[in-house]
Amino acid sequence: MQSYDVVIIGAGAAGMMCAVEAAKRGRSVLILDHAAAPGEKIRISGGGRCNFTNIHASPKNFISRNPHFCISALSRYTQRDFIALVERHGIAYHEKTLGQLFCDGSARQIIDMLVSEMRGRGAELVLSTRVETIGKTAEGFELTLSTGSVSCQSLVVACGGKSIPKMGATGFGYELAERFGLAVVETRPALVPLTFDAKTLERLSPLAGNAVDAEIACGKTRFSEAMLFTHRGVSGPSILQISSYWREGDEIRIAMLPGTDVAELVRAARRGNGRQAVQTVLANHLPKRLAQAIAERTGLDGNLADLSEAQIKTVEVAVNDWRIKPAGSEGYRTAEVTLGGVDTNSLDQKTMQAKLMPGLFFIGEVVDVTGWLGGYNFQWAWSSGWAAGQAC
Ligand code: FDA
Repeated sequence: MQSYDVVIIGAGAAGMMCAVEAAKRGRSVLILDHAAAPGEKIRISGGGRCNFTNIHASPKNFISRNPHFCISALSRYTQRDFIALVERHGIAYHEKTLGQLFCDGSARQIIDMLVSEMRGRGAELVLSTRVETIGKTAEGFELTLSTGSVSCQSLVVACGGKSIPKMGATGFGYELAERFGLAVVETRPALVPLTFDAKTLERLSPLAGNAVDAEIACGKTRFSEAMLFTHRGVSGPSILQISSYWREGDEIRIAMLPGTDVAELVRAARRGNGRQAVQTVLANHLPKRLAQAIAERTGLDGNLADLSEAQIKTVEVAVNDWRIKPAGSEGYRTAEVTLGGVDTNSLDQKTMQAKLMPGLFFIGEVVDVTGWLGGYNFQWAWSSGWAAGQAC
C-alpha cells in the first residue's frame, strides 16, 4: 500500500489549490479525481473564460448558516493573492463588470497554471480513479481506490457540490461527511434559472429571448442586473443571484425600469402627445414585445389621453412592481452551485479541519459557504483550499 501525507479527493479548484499549498510545505500529496481531466468546472466556467475572482470579494458576498465562518480563509488568502498568482503565470485578464475578473484567453490557462504549480511542487495527480472505501486508522485513513490502496495522515474532501450531474457531480462529499459524523446543512440548487407554471408560461413564453436590466427582490434581498425571459421562466444574472435566496412559495418582485418614475414618464408622454398608446411609450424604454405584453396584461391599449390617474398607476405597478411566484427552479441540471453543505459548526474556520476528526478536511463548494455570482465561488475555493493546505 502506498502511503502519503495527504490525499485529496477531487481535482477541482479547491483541491488543486490545496495540493499546491500542502506540497509547498514538503508534504507528499496525492490528488485524485474520478473524471478524466482536472478542473472540468473551471474549463466551462465564465463562458469558457473563467471568472476566476472578484476584486470586491468580501464575506458579505457569501451565504452560510454561519456568515462569520468564511472570514478567516477569505482574509488570509485574498483575491489579491490569487491575482498575483495569475500575473506570475503571465495570464492576461480583464474586469468585465462589477469587479468580475475573466481570462482574456481561455479558462484552460487557469487549469494549466494549477496543474503546473502542483507538478512543480511534486504533488501526484491521478485521474479516472474511483474511491471505493475509506477507513479510519490510528495514524489517519486508508482508501481503497479503483486502482489500488493508499493510506494517508490527512484526507481532504474537495469533491464539490451536486450541480451539473452530467459532468460527474455527485453527493459524495456530503455522504462522506455524514458517515464521519459531521452535520450537513440541507442542500439545494443555487445560481439557477427560475421556472413558471404552465398558465404563466402560456402568456410569457412569447417573450423568450428578451432581456432587460431589472431589479429583482425577494424579501429584503435585491439585485440589479440583466434579466432574461426564457421558454421555462426567467434567467440572467439578477435572477441567478436572487435564486440563492428564493424558496418555494416565495414571490419575487421585479422592477423592469428601476429608478424610473414610470407614472411620470407616462404623464410626460401624454403632455407631449395624448394620442399615442401606452405600449408605444413603454417601447421607448423596454423591448417592444415586452411593452406590448404589459399593455395587454393591464388591458390598457387605448390612447394616453384617456388614461385615468389610477390606470397610470396600474402601468407603473406592472412595470416596476411586478410580483410573481416562480413554480420552481431548473434544479441541479443547470445550477452553477449547491447551497448548503457540510455544516461549518463541524469545521475549524482557520484550517477547514473537522473538529471531531483530526486529519479530515472539507474545502470548496462541499462546505456550507456559497458565493454570489461573479467570481466569488472560485475565490472561496482558492481561499479554503489554501487554508487547508497550510494545515493538512
Ligand atoms: P469542483 O466541482 O470544481 O471540483 C470537484 C472535483 O471533484 C471535480 O473535479 C469532480 O470530478 C471531483 N469529484 C466529485 N466526486 C468525486 C468522487 N466521488 N471521487 C473523485 N472525484 C470526485 N464560479 C465562479 O466563481 N466563477 C465562474 O465563472 C463560475 N462559472 C461556473 C459555470 C458553471 C456552468 C458552473 C456549473 C459553475 C460555475 N462556477 C463559477 C462555480 C464554480 O465552478 C464552483 O463553485 C467551483 O468549481 C467549486 O470548486 P470545488 O473545487 O469545490 O469543486
